[in-house]
Amino acid sequence: MTARNAAAARINELRQAIDRANRQYYIEDAPELADAEYDRLFRELQALERDHPDLLTPDSPTQRIGSEPATALTKHAHLRPMLSLANAFSAEELTAWEERNARLNPDVRGAGYTTEIKIDGAAVCLTYARGRLTVGATRGNGTIGEDVTANLRTIPDVPLVLEGSDHPPLMEIRGEVYFPIAAFRKLNRRREADGDPPFANPRNAAAGSLRQLDPATTRSRRLRMFAFHVEVIDGEPPARTHHEMLAVLSRWGFPVEAHHRRFPDLAAVQAAIPEFEHQLATLPFEADGVVVKVDRRDLQEDLGVVGGREPRWAIARKFAPEVAVTRLNEIRINVGRTGALNPYAVLEPVEVGGVTVSSATLHNEDLIAQKDIREGDWVEIVRAGEVIPQVIGPLRERRTGAERPFTPPAACPACGEPVVRPPDEVMRYCVNAACPGRIFEAIVHYAGRDAMDIRGLGSERVRQLLDAGRIRDVSDLYRLTPEDLITLDRFADQSATQLVAAIADSMTRPLALLLFGLGIRHVGKNVAQLLARRFGTLATLRAADQEAIGEVPGIGPTIAAAVVEFFATPANAELVDRLIAAGIAPEEPNVAPRGDALAGQAYVLTGTLPTLSRADAAALIEGAGGRVTGSVSKKTDAVVAGADAGSKLDRARDLGVEIIDEAELLRRVGREA
Ligand code: IVH
Repeated sequence: MTARNAAAARINELRQAIDRANRQYYIEDAPELADAEYDRLFRELQALERDHPDLLTPDSPTQRIGSEPATALTKHAHLRPMLSLANAFSAEELTAWEERNARLNPDVRGAGYTTEIKIDGAAVCLTYARGRLTVGATRGNGTIGEDVTANLRTIPDVPLVLEGSDHPPLMEIRGEVYFPIAAFRKLNRRREADGDPPFANPRNAAAGSLRQLDPATTRSRRLRMFAFHVEVIDGEPPARTHHEMLAVLSRWGFPVEAHHRRFPDLAAVQAAIPEFEHQLATLPFEADGVVVKVDRRDLQEDLGVVGGREPRWAIARKFAPEVAVTRLNEIRINVGRTGALNPYAVLEPVEVGGVTVSSATLHNEDLIAQKDIREGDWVEIVRAGEVIPQVIGPLRERRTGAERPFTPPAACPACGEPVVRPPDEVMRYCVNAACPGRIFEAIVHYAGRDAMDIRGLGSERVRQLLDAGRIRDVSDLYRLTPEDLITLDRFADQSATQLVAAIADSMTRPLALLLFGLGIRHVGKNVAQLLARRFGTLATLRAADQEAIGEVPGIGPTIAAAVVEFFATPANAELVDRLIAAGIAPEEPNVAPRGDALAGQAYVLTGTLPTLSRADAAALIEGAGGRVTGSVSKKTDAVVAGADAGSKLDRARDLGVEIIDEAELLRRVGREA
């Protein structure tokens, strides 16, 4: 029995893990596996199936239509160029546009306009042949884009087959794929929790998600699409006016943005502009203007295209993002949970984009140097859509000479310990684990909504409790009584009792939330869930070695090392002890009920077992109170050996460790084979 056997077992394991991940993504809407991990498992499975074609079965997740990850995107030549739009930033520019058009064809005046929201996403071109989607592509350079058909197929808004029967035999539908703001926020929260870099804005997120090699990733992003244009390649135009065409698109099954309106003339459009500007701010997706289109198709054709790039018959009326000027009083440093020193600007409060802004992030010291931002400078601030306030830069002409250039701190502003800047990073770090700045952020994170969810314990309360010496770390929270709080500012009988109750309530949170709350490096919410499912209790996870953690599907060596390092660090170990002493002993509800047949025993798995996958065998051992470790030592109680066992078996023999087979394991855990 051979490598083929091992491959068969691994294939089985991978298929189960991928099927489970697919179910979580598509059906339960609760993805647990990081995209990158999913990709890794998927590729491993593909490689194994490629090497062992006789093990490939039609029910393998690699055989699902459309879920085959590509190795690179291929190019697609659009049948007609994808045009862009000229911009008008003022009423005058919009009027000038109509005047130019009227010189070419006086009929445009008074012939009517249709306006649409200009959706800020990624332009797409969908080819339909006899009513079926054949190709979907990105805009690219307007002539040649990238074929992302498999990805577009995963977007529920994209019809695969059109409704009705009156479609031209060959046409290109143009539209915009976008990220709803709520989904964008959720995605970025997840990415940050997973330690992935967040997307800068919904447009980048949409474009990035559309250009994935694996359609499963695109699908998990929950993109949306609006259609706004038909390019007939073969057949009759479906309508005589643009607003009729939108109705046709809708009838064929395309989503059309609902705020489109028809106006008799440009004066009516101009009068509605303030209304549009207000509307743009309230949409559930990002929009960067209003598109004004000559309504009649015959006039559109007559006006034609400028320079092969922009149609004369449409223009984007844009509104400049709001910029405000204010005084930058001070540059301060916030110490993050990981020790990163984050510089931010303390501003003279100013209203921009409808909200009052009094601080703005400055990202890192290199950026401050590049923009030459000094304390005391007058600076321009912009708040565009979703983006948090940004400092554009200083107004150098308003300098008096009293401005102070920023010197990055050599010592941590929170604890005074020296800071380090790793050679390949732009941030400085405080490496003192006991730094009060880090501790503050760690407690805020622990109490946060996505972690232990302690209602009423926000950053201000945490600050107050720390400053008053009521707590030093999260374990102290559980010893607080209403009497400890009542003497503090802004606490009354009721709020003190409520906070103590909320803290007590957090004791019953599941293990995954506690693990996330502890702020272990690389352990985001998804990884925490995987660890909880596999290890069941804090004690079991703590006792696991790096190899055993790394064997959990979806968890790689970096994460495993970080977990081991966390528990091995004395300060963390003591904190965990204090939490346990305080009565925090969460169990993962989804782990099989524990027996005690193997209580306290250490097992090692090696080779391919006849019926059990590695994960199943490990779950059985842990379910019976035992532990699975990665390597054989004198402390190992038994090695479970299957076919093709390697060096672990030799080592067990050398050390005289007991060697058993699957049947014996099943017997010991009370499950006869
Ligand atoms: S019409 C021939 N209408 O804006 C069709 N474009 O800056 C020309 N866009 O590439 C485009 N919403 O991706 C049109 N309602 C809308 C739009 C829209 C968004 C995008 C489109 C275009 C880009 C030009």
